[in-house]
Amino acid sequence: MVQSEKLVIGNWKMNVLPSEAARLVNEILDVTSRNVRFVIAPPFTHISLLNSYISNNCVLAAQGCHEEKSGAHTAEISAWMLRDLGVEYVILGHSEVRQANPNEDARIRSKIHSALDAGLKVVYCCGEPIQIRQEGDPWNYVVAQLERDFMDLIVSDIRSVSIAYEPIWAIGTGLNASQEQILDMMSRIRSWLAEKYGPEPANGVSLLYGGSVKGANAGEIANTPHVNGVLVGGASLIPAEFAAILKAFQY
Ligand code: PGA
Repeated sequence: MVQSEKLVIGNWKMNVLPSEAARLVNEILDVTSRNVRFVIAPPFTHISLLNSYISNNCVLAAQGCHEEKSGAHTAEISAWMLRDLGVEYVILGHSEVRQANPNEDARIRSKIHSALDAGLKVVYCCGEPIQIRQEGDPWNYVVAQLERDFMDLIVSDIRSVSIAYEPIWAIGTGLNASQEQILDMMSRIRSWLAEKYGPEPANGVSLLYGGSVKGANAGEIANTPHVNGVLVGGASLIPAEFAAILKAFQY
């Protein structure tokens, strides 16, 4: 049976100076037990600097990429460039990127293809805003994102894709979704995947939760069926918090 990979990803967003990056990773490694694998998604400017930390336990993700391989796209970075630097994952569809760029939704499909072609694994983010949650049908919103962004992904593609469910109202707010809300969304995503790709490939997809994950709530999230990991923002910048989250997902 295909086993989904456990993933704990620290998304540094636009934080930490390059000159401070190695110190933060060393502090995380100092307080983390050796048999836990984790992913750090630093800003692009830090990737080369953190190359020497890549090991079986620690790998790098990028926070995004352009859909083209190369060309006249000032200020952009391609999936191939990231792969060439030793990056293993790329985060696509993060709500902060979707909100900052009105065209992002339309570009996610080609970004996913580009990343997979370059040999990167994709951490695809989805999740509803607060008004949708209050109206009572968040699944309708999330499934529309999945239907559009996975439209032309086939079984062999999804073997390299993880899905992070990140309710927008829980990101950076301290308000994490309840275990019941997480379980409801994760089981719907798993069933949707099973219907589209079959049960075995669906079980192989890692499902992550994101939104105000910290040491104190990581245990409950880790014990939620269907949850294979977390995408962590703020708490990934605090070594003791990140270590506590990693411990909760240790296996
Ligand atoms: P947060 O961010 O942990 O600070 O809520 C999560 C994310 O945006 O991935």
